[in-house]
Amino acid sequence: MDKKMIFSGVQPSGCVTLGNYIGALKNWVKLQEEYHCMYSVVDLHSITVRQDPEALRERCLSFLALYLACGIDPEKSILFFQSHVTQHAELSWLLSCHTYMGELSRMTQFKDKSAKHEDNINAGLFTYPVLMAADILLYQTDLVPVGADQTQHLELARDIAIRMNHTYGEDTFVVPEGYYAPVGARIMSLQDPTSKMSKSDPNPNGYIWVLDAPEVIAKKIKRAVTDSDGVIAYQEGKHGVNNLLSIYGAVTGQTPQKAAEGFAGQGYGALKTQVAEAVIEELRPVREKYAQIIADKEYLTKVYKDGAEKASALAEKTLEKIQNRLGFVKRG
Ligand code: TRP
Repeated sequence: MDKKMIFSGVQPSGCVTLGNYIGALKNWVKLQEEYHCMYSVVDLHSITVRQDPEALRERCLSFLALYLACGIDPEKSILFFQSHVTQHAELSWLLSCHTYMGELSRMTQFKDKSAKHEDNINAGLFTYPVLMAADILLYQTDLVPVGADQTQHLELARDIAIRMNHTYGEDTFVVPEGYYAPVGARIMSLQDPTSKMSKSDPNPNGYIWVLDAPEVIAKKIKRAVTDSDGVIAYQEGKHGVNNLLSIYGAVTGQTPQKAAEGFAGQGYGALKTQVAEAVIEELRPVREKYAQIIADKEYLTKVYKDGAEKASALAEKTLEKIQNRLGFVKRG
């Protein structure tokens, strides 16, 4: 295996936004040409908060269909549901015995989430980063495309790998590194452009859903918060305008600075119209492909079954190796 291994996952919660599309999915599609890519709908992670079972099932399938619609190619990448590859949960236990309470207590996401869900601070919320480490280490992953909000978790995965390598042999785990996309990584909320565009934003005007109808996209962009100086420039402090320029740049393949030059002398109305048009055209084929794929349950099933089978074969190799190194009796 000469190509490097990539693993990334998205939790099936909320909906896939333009931010996810630009910051993650669009890059994932590019990465498949150069790397061995594993992309997972990490359903096990999503039950740290209570889910409605039927809604979860539907959302999982919808996320998978959306990955495919965005251009993740099951001939090139391994696409699967985390819960279908049971080695994730098994490795997670082995790793949890090499992870300290102190380390997990320091995770800012745990602190934030337990403040938000005071009535359900379950053990899974606490050990969430260990399961994420298992996702990554199970495939001897070299590179992990993640957003900035996941660096602390990735750092923990590295620490666990390094620790276990010291104890059980330096070739036990590949120590993974983060992969941060060169451009378009951070798309902000349209309503509060100082915070990230979030799929769990209670105000749907803050985000663009990848499957929003063209009229809805146009309306949301028209309502986007800008500023009162009326000058289109990519500049410190002009959060709203910067965000629109970042979106435009990411979709049309140029830097936001370059995009700003193209709009010189125009007003915010014109900017918004053109950003909306660009986004609508970018997402049109995704929406059309999605409609086809989600209707073809047979195809979807084939994709996730094949994916789980391939992932499982790779996962099993690592799991057996680790079980062996920890001193468990070989399965004969
Ligand atoms: N925790 C990640 C998030 O919320 C999702 C995730 C789970 C993940 N396992 C992963 C991302 C492994 C990268 C690699 O965004």
